[in-house]
Amino acid sequence: MMTIKKALAIASVFISTNTVAQTDAAINAKIDALVKKMTVEEKVAMIHASSSFTSGGVSRLGIPELVMSDGPHGVRLEHGRDWNADKITTDASTYLPTGVCLAATWNPQLGYAYGSVLGSEAAYRGKDVILGPGINIIRTPLNGRNFEYQSEDPFLVSKMVVGYIKGVQDQGVAACVKHYALNNQEILRNSIDVHLSERALREIYLPGFKAAVQEGKVLTLMGSYNKVRGQWATQNRYLMNDILKKEWGFKGAVISDWGAVHSTMQALWNGCDIEMGTDLSMLPNPNYGKFFFGDTVTTMVKNGVVPEYLLDDKVKRILYVMMKTSALDGTRKKGQFNTKAHQETARKVAEEGIVLLKNEASLLPLDKSKVKSIAVIGFNAERPQALGGGSSQIKALYEITPLQGIQSLAGNNIQITYAPGYNINRGATADQLSINKAAEAAANADVAIVVGGWTHGYDYTVWKDNAYDAEDTDKPDMRMPFGQDQLIKAVLKANPNTIVVLMGGGPIDMSEWVDQTKSIVQAWYPGMEGGNALAKVLFGQINPSGKLPMTFPKKLEDVPAHKLGQYPGDSVKVYYMDDIYVGYRYYDTYKVTPQFAFGHGLSYSSFEYSNLKVQKSGKSGTVTFTVRNTGKTAGAEVAQVYVKQEKSALQRPEKELKGFQKVFLQPGASKTVTITLNEEAFQYYNDVQSKWVSEAGAFQVLVGGASNAIRLSGKLSF
Ligand code: GLC
Repeated sequence: MMTIKKALAIASVFISTNTVAQTDAAINAKIDALVKKMTVEEKVAMIHASSSFTSGGVSRLGIPELVMSDGPHGVRLEHGRDWNADKITTDASTYLPTGVCLAATWNPQLGYAYGSVLGSEAAYRGKDVILGPGINIIRTPLNGRNFEYQSEDPFLVSKMVVGYIKGVQDQGVAACVKHYALNNQEILRNSIDVHLSERALREIYLPGFKAAVQEGKVLTLMGSYNKVRGQWATQNRYLMNDILKKEWGFKGAVISDWGAVHSTMQALWNGCDIEMGTDLSMLPNPNYGKFFFGDTVTTMVKNGVVPEYLLDDKVKRILYVMMKTSALDGTRKKGQFNTKAHQETARKVAEEGIVLLKNEASLLPLDKSKVKSIAVIGFNAERPQALGGGSSQIKALYEITPLQGIQSLAGNNIQITYAPGYNINRGATADQLSINKAAEAAANADVAIVVGGWTHGYDYTVWKDNAYDAEDTDKPDMRMPFGQDQLIKAVLKANPNTIVVLMGGGPIDMSEWVDQTKSIVQAWYPGMEGGNALAKVLFGQINPSGKLPMTFPKKLEDVPAHKLGQYPGDSVKVYYMDDIYVGYRYYDTYKVTPQFAFGHGLSYSSFEYSNLKVQKSGKSGTVTFTVRNTGKTAGAEVAQVYVKQEKSALQRPEKELKGFQKVFLQPGASKTVTITLNEEAFQYYNDVQSKWVSEAGAFQVLVGGASNAIRLSGKLSF
């Protein structure tokens, strides 16, 4: 039984060492021998889809189809070979909190536990590849898929993605890091052509993928729909051949997003290994031979138009994935499904990912012995979210909603009333009657809890209807829909002891009520145990330790992608003129105050930083400091280390995250934290010289509990 304790114990090992079950030399020898036996037709069958979620095998040689499944936060409901969801009940699975909630834990070891659950359930369901993690940088709060992703900061992504991938792959299943690259919006996702500086590409948008490949040893990677600098990303020579396979040494297979291949020759020569999803245009009777990687390739190879080694390389990469996941010899661990341990991991991630944004007059935590009545308000309090969002949807075995979690923890001594306050109906204006009912409920209770924010589409097929956090759609703006602002203001007027809980994949414009609200909690999409985790935070059984993995700006106009850059671009191109100034890199450098800063998150305790020592050794630095829990309750603090170069040939951001550690402390206890900053931590990519540069001079080392809460600073000079 993979309990969370066991997964965390393993994680502490993997973070420092890598165990390779069988040497690559042995694997490659077997692969070469197998490929020698294959006909051209058999090789071609392997490089394109054989159904909605499989690519071809060669039964004559005992090579199975490669079986894939979404998604990043749970194994998706079963699809037949024809895209239609199977009418079965055995495919309800563990619904983990979505990627952004995992990132908000700032706990790489928890990332490993998360990946372990995903890999174990994928193995149980007979999947060779789980199509996650999604790690596209959060450049605009409007991107409909931010909920699936992780952060605005490449360093945080790089640290969280490795644990996740190792967790999945240690279960004998391949992870599939996606969507490579620059798929940072859903509007026009199938056609938009992204243009950006080499510096922004290298410093912001690629590091997460590089860490996935070089540290996580990810076995598959998904090419994205969009174009990059004029060439489709999935068949992009620079991204796939030059950077991914040559520079980074990627040994696995590139899987196209579904329908992301646009031409045979470019995809053949520019690094795509498996073509998926082109059949969408052919449904309901796909002819897989008509794929770009279908019969045409057989003809071209036989006629010598395409060298066979090109085909062989793709087949060898696919076989490498099969060998590393024991898909070939059938020795993969069976995996487990819907275990209590898996559900405990889901709850733990939610407990550590929920962020306490504001808490005045210590309204939180609620005291069960004193509070006699609570009005829970807001449709999101009762709304299950698992099936929404698009391809990452989950048929959850169960989903504890915020209302259920609060009711169950409050027990019989606290009277709970519920008023939806709004209806989830896109374009609906405020329903005054509902607001009045909600305000009345609030006035008659000791405390009011409004659960609002963004939402997914409701069910499997109409994931875009009424959806704000969903694939293939972006939000129109940062305004909360369904009249929620009016609702919150009315509830606050009726009862000042109101807590606002926000669900969703990112920030909303809270300017109309943030100053009047004593307590605000960001709950993301916290998975099947989310209601229980939220209730435990609200009642203080869990001391919140989540930190924002992205900036919450005051208003959309403040966002750099909208202020400096282009979003969504014109109908053809989008220029990332915000460049490297994404998130706090922009707000801090351009002195724009956000609503809540990157790395921000409160605790029911308090923490003190002291004794900073910064020592240089060669081109690296060692940062040591003490964190003490000065509060009355045990808690965890994410100590963050930022670097600021005082003078540089090219302008650099005000600060850049280069280290962090989550420290769990009993009241009064302290811990000395040591973080090593290697040479890379001080470098930037000089795209005039086309290389990473280490420049002489002074660097400030800034330490604190948020990007805008620096408590200690020191200096290093090289
Ligand atoms: C979708 C998504 C991708 C998903 C794939 C298969 O279009 O972009 O993330 O894994 O298709 O469903």
